[in-house]
Order: sequence, then structure tokens, then C-alpha cells
Amino acid sequence: MLEAVITQLKETGNATAEELERILTDDSCDTFLFDAAAEVKRRIYGDTVFVRGIIEFSNYCRCACAYCGIARGNTDLPRYRMQPEELIAEGVEAAKVYRTVILQSGEDTFYTAQMLGQIVSEIKSRQDCAITLSIGARSEEEYRVLRAAGADRFLIKHETADAALYEALHGEPPDNRLRCQRDLRELGYELGSGFMIGLPGQTAQIIAQDLLLLQEMRVDMAGIGPFIPHDGTPLAGCAHGDARMTCKAVALARLLLPRCHLPSTTALNVKGGMADALRCGANVIMQKATPFAYRKLYDIYPGRDAQDLPLREQYERLREQLGMMGMEIE
Ligand code: 5AD
Repeated sequence: MLEAVITQLKETGNATAEELERILTDDSCDTFLFDAAAEVKRRIYGDTVFVRGIIEFSNYCRCACAYCGIARGNTDLPRYRMQPEELIAEGVEAAKVYRTVILQSGEDTFYTAQMLGQIVSEIKSRQDCAITLSIGARSEEEYRVLRAAGADRFLIKHETADAALYEALHGEPPDNRLRCQRDLRELGYELGSGFMIGLPGQTAQIIAQDLLLLQEMRVDMAGIGPFIPHDGTPLAGCAHGDARMTCKAVALARLLLPRCHLPSTTALNVKGGMADALRCGANVIMQKATPFAYRKLYDIYPGRDAQDLPLREQYERLREQLGMMGMEIE
């Protein structure tokens, strides 16, 4: 019967919260689910994988998210911040390799919207590319300035759709996050959201709500990754998010939002899941384009990346790896 529910979801793009919860908690049809998601992805994107380069330009953060290694409470972490000139130069180099460059940071108020806007427009004027910002919550006016400067897309995850769990982890209700998402959408950004799997206190019922929230917000992108406990946070010692459950959530997102860009999140890659994620509906890979000296300091969760390769070589290696899996880069 579960197969019938999955088939119906695949055909209509819809499922109830109860149906999603059943699929998430019953593992008897996982292969059927992954195959359905892979088929929908293939119908839309063929064998094409989209690759993005991400520059993590500051690890200063004013937030105190309980799961995050760069939260302000982690006083053991040395902080860095790239100056605008350096960020522009690195952005241009990344844009020569990747057609989309993601500029990500902690919530660092050092950078005003005007500064970031200049950085975005300067990179785009020197090298044709799309720019995604991932810099956290700002005012509608700031988002407007950044959009006018040429920012194309924005990633800001809802993290968890459960308001009580959100507040427990962030010390504030989710309202402002959701306000940001709505503002960004109205300003014409392509909107990226997402959430974590395996947060302490999360249930399958909550994951079902996470998935339905992505659908309700009609997001263009969704990063779904496992929670990985970080020693420098209040959640040190908690259990890791489950890779299989993450793949199931990615597969369900593919069925609910067939055209959505779904990265194999770096947190999942840490757990060796890139190939699995691509097989169950993901269509995007993100690669680090952060200058080597800063990479270890952008310590959101442990175990990120082993190798530091020049961007072009890193990209070519990925192309080879994907080629062996029968896939090609956009
Ligand atoms: N484990 C997994 N993902 C995490 N993030 C932050 N901390 C962790 C963690 N411990 C994710 C959040 C955030 C993104 C930048 O990284 O989803 O939005």
C-alpha cells in the first residue's frame, strides 16, 4: 500500500502530512521511493548535475543557534573576515570555474548592504555569473539593495518547521526567518530554503511539516542535510542525523517539488553520501571555493572537507567522478 501512496505522490506531486510521515517511518519501500525520485529528476534534468562554488567569507556571527559551530558562543574559534577587495578577487576567480557563486557567511553586521551590493556588482561586472547570497536575516530594505545590485538568489533555511523546536534551538521564534523568506520571494530572488535531519527533539511528523513548508513556500532550492553535532556547541554529544533518513527526505522533496534544485548538502557529503543523494533525487553539488587559509575556520560542523585543491582541479575531479556515474555537469 505504501507503494501506491508513493506512486500517487509521484503522479500528483502531492501528499498529506500523514502520508509523508508513514513513508518516512516505514523503510520497507525505500528503494521504490528512491527510484521514483530518481525518475522524476531524470525527467526534468536528465543526467545533468548543477555545480556551485561557495566562498565562506566571514565566520563572525551574531547568532546563538544551538547546533552551529560558528555561533557567537563558541569563543574558542578564531574569527576571520575577508575584506571586500579580497572577496571580489576570489569571487571573480570562482566565477571563472563555476557559473554560480555562493557567497556565505555568519550573520556579520560588519558588511552593510551597500558594501555587499558593491561586491556583488563588481564580481558580476568582471565575470559573467549568477550570485547566491547566504548571509542570514536582514531587513527588507537591505534585501532590496542587494537585489538591485545584482544578487540573483538567496539561501536562508527554515531549519525546522516546528515553532517550539525552532525557538528552543535559536532562542527566538521562527517568525523573522519566515518574514525574510517572504520578502526575498517578493523581491524576485530565487529562494533557497532547507532544514536539518536528526535535530534533537525532531520527529518524523516534524520532517513531514518541513517538507510541506518547502512546498507551501514554492522554494526554488532546498538544502536538506543531516545534523552533525559540534563539540563547541550546547548540542555536543547528541546523536548524528541519519544519512538514510536524509536521503528519504531529499527524495520526498523531489516528488513534492519536481523542479526544485536539491543539493547533496556538504553535511551529507561528509558522511560519504554524494552518490547516494544524486541517486535519490538531488541534482546540485556545492564545492568549496573559500581560500584555503580560512576553510578550517568556517567550522559550522566537524569533518568538513579533507582536500584543498585548486578550484579548476577540484572541478575537473568532480567532472570525472560524475562521468563515471553517467552524469555530466551543466
Ligand atoms: N550540522 C548540520 N548542519 C548544520 N548547519 C549548521 N550547523 C549544522 C550542524 N551542526 C547548517 C544549517 C545552516 C547551514 C549554513 O548549515 O542548516 O543553515
